[in-house]
Amino acid sequence: MSSVFYRSSLPYPVAVRAEGPYLWDSSGKRYLDGASGALVANIGQGRAEVAEAMAQAARTLAFVHGSQFSSPALENYSARLMKFLDFPGYRFWAVSGGSEATESAIKLARQYHAERGEAQRYRIITRRPSYHGASLGALAASGMGARRALYTPLMNEDAWPKLDRPDPHRDGAQDAEALRTLIASLGPETVAAFMAEPVVGASDAALAPASGYYERVAEICCESGVLFIADEVMSGMGRCGTPLALRQWSGVTPDIAVLGKGLAAGYAPLAGIAASDEVYRTVMDGSGAFRHGFTYAGHPVSVAAGAAVLEVLEGEHLVERSRELGARLLEGLRDLKTRHPQMLEVRGRGLMLGVVLGDPETGESYAAPGLAARIGKAAFQHGLIVYPGSGAADGVCGDHLLLGPALSLTEGQAGELLEKLDAALKVGE
Ligand SMILES: Cc1ncc(COP(=O)(O)O)c(C=O)c1O
Repeated sequence: MSSVFYRSSLPYPVAVRAEGPYLWDSSGKRYLDGASGALVANIGQGRAEVAEAMAQAARTLAFVHGSQFSSPALENYSARLMKFLDFPGYRFWAVSGGSEATESAIKLARQYHAERGEAQRYRIITRRPSYHGASLGALAASGMGARRALYTPLMNEDAWPKLDRPDPHRDGAQDAEALRTLIASLGPETVAAFMAEPVVGASDAALAPASGYYERVAEICCESGVLFIADEVMSGMGRCGTPLALRQWSGVTPDIAVLGKGLAAGYAPLAGIAASDEVYRTVMDGSGAFRHGFTYAGHPVSVAAGAAVLEVLEGEHLVERSRELGARLLEGLRDLKTRHPQMLEVRGRGLMLGVVLGDPETGESYAAPGLAARIGKAAFQHGLIVYPGSGAADGVCGDHLLLGPALSLTEGQAGELLEKLDAALKVGE
C-alpha cells in the first residue's frame, strides 16, 4: 500500500522522466504535456544548465533566513527579473508558490494603506470567475465557486467584493466602468486594491478583455486611491507572448504584480511579487518592515533556478516564440473548431490558449458540467495532457479547456498536440 496522500482516489500513473514537453510514466507510456503541468514547465524539462545552477547554489549557500540575510543569488536574480519585466525601481519579494505570492500582495496592499493613515481601506476587489490561489486569503479573493464553497464560513465576504467578468466582445473601456460603479457603491475609502488576472487562467480558459479595459481599470484605481494588483502567476513570464501579459493593454503597469509558475518553470518552487517603489518606500519609511514572511522566502536554490530559466527564456527568444507559435496554434484550434461543434470559442494570447465548450444548438454551456473532464481524460489516454475546467458560466457550469505547452515547443510537436486533441474531442460528440 502506498503511503502517499494523493489528491484524489484516482489511480495515478507514476511519472519517471521528462524531456522538453514530454513525460514518461513507469509503464513507458509517453505524454505530450499540452498544459506544462498547470502552465508551469515553460521552458520544457530536462535542461542540464538549470539543474547545474541549482546544484551549484545548494553547494555554495543552501539556505538563509530572510529575517537575517540577503544573498548574492537573490540580489542578482531580483535585479535581472525587474529588468526583464521592465519594472524600473520595483522590488522583488520572493516566495515559494503562487498562493503565498497572492497572500503577500494582499497583505502588502493592506499595510501600504495603513502606513498612509488610511487603515480603513481593507477590501480587496477581484472578479468572478477568477483564481488567485488555494490558501484561505487567496481563495477568498478567488471567484471560483466550486473551489471555495466548502470554506466560505471561514471567510468574511464583506472584505472580498466581486466584479463581473469582462466581456471580450464589448468595448473594453466601457466594460471597465463597472469597477468605478462598484468602488463608488462600497465607498472608495474602504477599498485597498483591485486584483485581476490580465489573461484569466484556470477559471475561464484564457479569457482576455478587449483593448481599453485595463487602461481604464488603471485610471479608475489611480483616481480612487486603490492599488492595482495584476495576478500574472499564469499569464506572466512570456506565457502570453510578452514578459507581462498586462502590457498588451497599451503598456499598462500595475502597482503590484504577482508572479509564479513560469518563474522557475517547475525546476524549483519559486513565486513572488514585484512592488512599485512608491509601495515599497511607503512601508519602509513608515513602520520600517513588511509585517509578513515565510521561512523559505528567497530560497537561494529556487532563485538560482529562476536565474537559469530566465537565461534560457532570453537566450532562446522564447517570449517571441510564444507569440509566434501561439498564433499558429490558435489557427490550428480554429480549424479544429470547424470539425467539433461543441468547441464554442477558441481564444488566447501567445501560448496561453483556451477552448470554451458547450451546446452547439444553443451556443450556451451545458446544464451540467463534465464535458471538459471527459475530454481531458480521453486526451490523457491518447497521451496528451490538457487542463480541463468548469464553472466559468455560473460557478458550476461552463466547461473549458486550457492549453499551455512549453514555450520551446516545436512546430512538429504543435501538430502532434492538435492531432491528439482532435481525437480526444470526439468523446463529446
Ligand atoms: C492566476 C493564479 N494565481 C495564483 C495561483 C496559485 O498558485 P499556486 O498554485 O502556485 O499556489 C494560480 C495557480 O493556478 C494561478 O493560476
